[in-house]
Amino acid sequence: MANPRTKDDGAPPVHIAIIMDGNGRWAAAKGLPRAAGHRQGAEAVRATVKECISLGIRYLTLFAFSSENWKRPATEVDTLMSLLRLYIRQEIKELNRSGVRVRFIGAREALADDIIRLVEHAESTTRQNDRLTLTIALNYGSRAEIVRGVQDLAAKVKAGDLEPAAIDETMLASHLASADLPDPDLIIRTSGEQRLSNFLLWQSAYSELLFLDTFWPDFDQAALGDAVRIFAGRERRFGARG
Ligand code: FPP
Repeated sequence: MANPRTKDDGAPPVHIAIIMDGNGRWAAAKGLPRAAGHRQGAEAVRATVKECISLGIRYLTLFAFSSENWKRPATEVDTLMSLLRLYIRQEIKELNRSGVRVRFIGAREALADDIIRLVEHAESTTRQNDRLTLTIALNYGSRAEIVRGVQDLAAKVKAGDLEPAAIDETMLASHLASADLPDPDLIIRTSGEQRLSNFLLWQSAYSELLFLDTFWPDFDQAALGDAVRIFAGRERRFGARG
């Protein structure tokens, strides 16, 4: 689903996506183990979801674990997976009560069996909600997502069900994991790094990018409010003239 807007209208973002970076540096700056940074990062996730609901944001997508994060030491990967388990177990009831639909994008088949079950349970429990769609990118990589979509289309061509010339942008977008999400209006990356790191590469074609120096665990209600205000002040032209 592409963004239906064709020009800047000063409206708040419909879809915010966040690269939650800087947990490790937040911890190091305080002389704490990296795990403490990830734990505080999970608290920032709770606060951000709550504030998105208050602000009326309709879609929030969080980059929780990239397909490249497996390269980290096993103990750190375990910490991150345990935090995700805990988050889903502890939050799902409240998220459901608040009208949040939870969904996951990424290669879930590589996750531990119990996490796959939690993910499926979270998705099915909250399927009917539409106040806020919270998408958690877990073992996600944008290039792999695009390759999968292209493979699906190629299989249809091979089966004789699709003409190559009939493939257009809308069709490819509908074969991505994000098919039922509007493109993100605003992508935030915390911690001062300025890159997308294989996150929503197709979907970010016209996203506003906001790079903040704040480490993710310090991202709070005020930071989200500021980000939304900065977004509202940006002029979006989508390739047209101002
Ligand atoms: C980047 O910080 C953050 C991650 C790799 C993981 C993000 C995970 C969480 C915020 C916690 C759990 C998530 C949910 C949805 C409950 P980094 O470790 O790369 O920090 P550094 O660059 O300072 O080392």
